[in-house]
Amino acid sequence: MKDQKHLTLGIESSCDETSAAVVADGREVLSNIIASQVPTHKIFGGVVPEIASRHHLENVNPVIAMALSEAGVALSDIDLIGVTNGPGLVGALLVGVAAAKAVSFATGIPLVGVHHIRGHIAANFIEEKDLEPPFLALVVSGGHTHIMEIRGYNDAVILGRTRDDAAGEAFDKVARVLGLGYPGGPLIDRAARGGDPHAVEFKRVLLEKDSLDFSFSGTKTAVLNYLNHEKALGHTICVPDVAASFQKSVVDTIVTKAEHALERTGYGTLALAGGVASNSLLRESLRALCVKRSVRFSCPAPVLCTDNAAMIACAAYYKAGAPKTVRGGANFDGLGLDADPNLPL
Ligand code: KG4
Ligand code: ZN
Repeated sequence: MKDQKHLTLGIESSCDETSAAVVADGREVLSNIIASQVPTHKIFGGVVPEIASRHHLENVNPVIAMALSEAGVALSDIDLIGVTNGPGLVGALLVGVAAAKAVSFATGIPLVGVHHIRGHIAANFIEEKDLEPPFLALVVSGGHTHIMEIRGYNDAVILGRTRDDAAGEAFDKVARVLGLGYPGGPLIDRAARGGDPHAVEFKRVLLEKDSLDFSFSGTKTAVLNYLNHEKALGHTICVPDVAASFQKSVVDTIVTKAEHALERTGYGTLALAGGVASNSLLRESLRALCVKRSVRFSCPAPVLCTDNAAMIACAAYYKAGAPKTVRGGANFDGLGLDADPNLPL
């Protein structure tokens, strides 16, 4: 039975998670179903795009049905459909976009396309019910490392970004050379707990003094060089020490840049987002920074940090003009909505 709440059905399929969620009034998660493909891609050491698309095809309809059922609603109760239409793997995105358009066409429910990064940031609105823009956001995922000024629900400016690898990509690549497996981020996080973060001093690449950009490929290469050097000398590698030292160097760099950005902009809130936001050291270190600077720290629960459709539904609700509060202020996309692997913000 539907009450008067506005219900958004979110769909996410940009990488290797097929997810559907029902979110009430933009921020209340009624269901958030995530079908992970990790076991499938694990044997390849990374996501194989073609295989990901095929699994999305198999999963998307059951996942939508489960999201509706767990929320206790029918499709006819849904007011809005939000789907990730970029950036991401094009074949993977196409599956979610096609499913969303089909449901929209068959039912007449309005549709909005959501930028994946805006979705990650929106996870903070679900976690912190009273959070409102403006604030500073740090988006750290497998594909992006951005420092952003969130001026309004639909108004964001990038202040800094990675010039090479994203932080999550560096975690994944270092995990691979350490033989930890895939996905690397959580495995490094776990291995690092038993290691000494000061065992090896990997360089912190801070670029120009005033820049809020990042560069992680040098740190990744430094780990590789260290491993090759130690192996050539016949030394045994202490994996937890290397994992902890690498993680500390990445986290120190991010914290330094976050502090510069807070100083420069004067914002009173820092919101963390993206898969790497589930990293325990990053969360602790940024929380400590925010306490030191008397700034509010917002950090979604780990399940809302990695790819999920609840964050997409939340972002869709605000992109559509928060229809619960702004009646008639809707901003919908039509059935011409397309997947764009390089969708700009
Ligand atoms: O946001 P996300 O789920 O997908 C993208 O949009 O990219 O982020 C995935 C990334 C992967 O690189 C993964 O290794 C990393 O997030 N990650 C972590 C942790 N959990 C996931 N990195 C470090 N520590 C973690 N605990
Ligand atoms: Zn993501």
